[in-house]
Amino acid sequence: MSNLPADGLMPFHAMEILKRAKAIEAGGRTVCHLEVGEPGSPPAPRVLEAVRQALPQAQGYTNAKGLPELREGLATYYAHQHNAAVDPDNIVTTMGSSAGFIIAFHTAFQPGARIAITRPGYPAYVNTLLGLGFAVTEIPLFPENGWKLTGADIAAAHEQTPFDGLLFASPANPTGAAVDRAQLADIVATCNQLGVQLISDEIYHGLDYRGPSVSALELTSNAIVINSFSKYYCMTGWRVGWMVLPDHLVRRAEILQQNLFISAPTLSQIAATVALSERDYSEQQKAGYAANRALLDDGLRQIGFQTGSPSDGAFYAYADISSFSNDSMSFCERLLEEAGVAATPGIDFDRAGGNRYVRFSYAGKAETMEIALERMRAFLK
Ligand SMILES: Cc1ncc(COP(=O)(O)O)c(C=O)c1O
Repeated sequence: MSNLPADGLMPFHAMEILKRAKAIEAGGRTVCHLEVGEPGSPPAPRVLEAVRQALPQAQGYTNAKGLPELREGLATYYAHQHNAAVDPDNIVTTMGSSAGFIIAFHTAFQPGARIAITRPGYPAYVNTLLGLGFAVTEIPLFPENGWKLTGADIAAAHEQTPFDGLLFASPANPTGAAVDRAQLADIVATCNQLGVQLISDEIYHGLDYRGPSVSALELTSNAIVINSFSKYYCMTGWRVGWMVLPDHLVRRAEILQQNLFISAPTLSQIAATVALSERDYSEQQKAGYAANRALLDDGLRQIGFQTGSPSDGAFYAYADISSFSNDSMSFCERLLEEAGVAATPGIDFDRAGGNRYVRFSYAGKAETMEIALERMRAFLK
């Protein structure tokens, strides 16, 4: 476990690599994009059609919590998908899950509160928390345990330095690790016992290759659940997500939303409402990711990366590069400059041990994976 200093804000290296990759492309070379976690396909055709039709009228703000039809659609989603009863009044539509985190932190915690996250984990967690003046405890995860967080890990870290909240994702970024129902129940129970506010980031729900993702809402009404249309619904740039809050936190979250963001983008909310009924389209995309997952896993292993077992969910392979390098940043820089393959250095996700890892996103097209593997094979010879 480690406690990070408050001035530890770092760049989001995936975005830095993307910036450099775009510059290389502007110079006339091609780049295989395996760095950002972005679906290669647009949203479902009906989503785009609905937005075309709504465009002339949809110019104003919406209610701060979001369009009633969207929140009702989300409540129906929880009933069907998770057998969980959620009141649409407990849902706040947000500008992507990124805005949901800011609202969640300021809703649930006092300034300076301490929040635990996992290491490795999504880089914006630590950077957002530190940037907003919260204290951060990192709980290390290990490949031997499939990169999964356990109640015992949480309790051990809490005993060393007590914390007020825990933010964690399943399936996770960058490892794709997902906890099953019993494992999630263990995490929920431990948080309840310790008086720790759980924030469950469920952005990769739906993108699960070993059985349906379990929502914290199936197990407790105390958790704050954060989700987004970015990944499963292929809508990263639309900046729309949502959060589900326990009764006692809803009003404060609404007030923060009113003041910080006013409302999520209106057109995006209209698009999101339609996207909820287009899950067949999302399932088709997922089938493509599943094929890429197998392709990349095989290919990386053949080249000499150590990949462990393929990820449970999301669309990432978190590969051990220690047979090639002990410096993931310079490895990724050379891979980009010399081989035209963009990948994200593990230090984005893990400042302590990420020098030995690289994250490859398999959200793009199969052809991109194939070319990237070819290029890496030649580069690493
Ligand atoms: C675990 C996790 N949470 C949240 C986000 C942010 O997503 P958005 O703000 O687009 O909803 C990402 C993006 O990659 C992520 O990987």
